[in-house]
Amino acid sequence: MKVPASANLPTSSNGRPSGHRWLWSPSSPERPSIIPLLQEVQARLGYLPRDEVVKAAAACGMSVTQAYAVATFYNFFRLRPPGRHTIRICRGTACHVRGSAALLDHVEHLLGAGDGETTEDGDFSVETVACLGCCSRAPVVVVDETVHGRVGRQELTRLIRRLRSGVAAPRRERHEHDAR
Ligand code: FES
Repeated sequence: MKVPASANLPTSSNGRPSGHRWLWSPSSPERPSIIPLLQEVQARLGYLPRDEVVKAAAACGMSVTQAYAVATFYNFFRLRPPGRHTIRICRGTACHVRGSAALLDHVEHLLGAGDGETTEDGDFSVETVACLGCCSRAPVVVVDETVHGRVGRQELTRLIRRLRSGVAAPRRERHEHDAR
């Protein structure tokens, strides 16, 4: 995914990116909370560029250090741009029992990037996620937006090779919740 630089975003007359719904304005009687602001920035840009963290901190009346303390405390915030492809490995109980930790090791071996990291070429980000709600298909891996169930190391290798060669990952199944 190509992440636009925040500095290049078109801006409106108030200097804010146009088409962007801010949760707070200078005329608001109360200062905003930092977490929703950071979530909004990440939803828009895919990660938290430093200049956006600085702006969010100022809007919330806190120091940049405090804003980064929040951004680094929650693991759903990204401080670096995501890779073009994202591999998410479920670390929920069912997937763990069925070998998700070994899949994570395998991905790290193949790509040189572990949980929360992006490959140096920017092609892949690797993440672990909580239960995805399709435990009967464990272990579950989500490659970009496609959910793959009962994934083994060989299949994971094939998926990554296909992405590396520019071929989209095949859709084997859609994300579906188990009836529990
Ligand atoms: S534990 Fe992985 S989908 Fe539920």
